[in-house]
Amino acid sequence: VAAAPLPSPPVARAAIPMAGPTQVLRAQEIAAACTTLDELRAALAAFDGCPLAATATNLVFNDGNPDSGLMLVGEAPGAEEDRAGRPFTGAAGQLLDRMLASIGIDRTRCLVTNTVFWRPPGNRSPTEAEIQVCLPFLHRQIALVRPRHLVLLGGPAAKALTGSAAGITRIRGKWTQVQVPGLDAAIAALPMLHPAYLLASPGAKREAWADLRALRRSIDAA
Ligand code: URA
Repeated sequence: VAAAPLPSPPVARAAIPMAGPTQVLRAQEIAAACTTLDELRAALAAFDGCPLAATATNLVFNDGNPDSGLMLVGEAPGAEEDRAGRPFTGAAGQLLDRMLASIGIDRTRCLVTNTVFWRPPGNRSPTEAEIQVCLPFLHRQIALVRPRHLVLLGGPAAKALTGSAAGITRIRGKWTQVQVPGLDAAIAALPMLHPAYLLASPGAKREAWADLRALRRSIDAA
């Protein structure tokens, strides 16, 4: 006797798209097809594969000068950045601006961006899945900008771009190389403490100052 068919389980309706391997592949294809930063920004704005987009107010792409030769990558937008649609506009951004000003750099002389392009709810850390689905867009952005120097602000940016899981306090201040799809040559990258960390641990400003001087020396020598 044939068993009665089991009732089919209720279909989970995903109100929020999940970041997963399929979305990472989609992100890679979409990002690779972009040939300008404007195209990349528009593609990100239309991309529905990162669940953070569903809870954020604005896409936070980049700010500053793409032709400056210097690109800084932070972690994730916070409340201020989400409101403004621009990275590093809140308290950490103001400290970052003061740090950079101390070595003669303002936003006409650098480009700032983040590891993820939407604010995680409640300022939680971005998950590994969120980072991985944004990474093709970050890689493409770096490939299109072709900076001479990269600064990796904090552990998540350093881990996403170097693959190293070593803590930021161990790797900060040591130049490393970042390899990006679509670029033949690796880019010189300096991991640094994140300005939000410096706000909470002002004693670490000494290390930050040493790293800023290392950055200035390398820019001057280029
Ligand atoms: N912290 C970040 O990492 N990025 C921002 O844009 C703001 C704060």
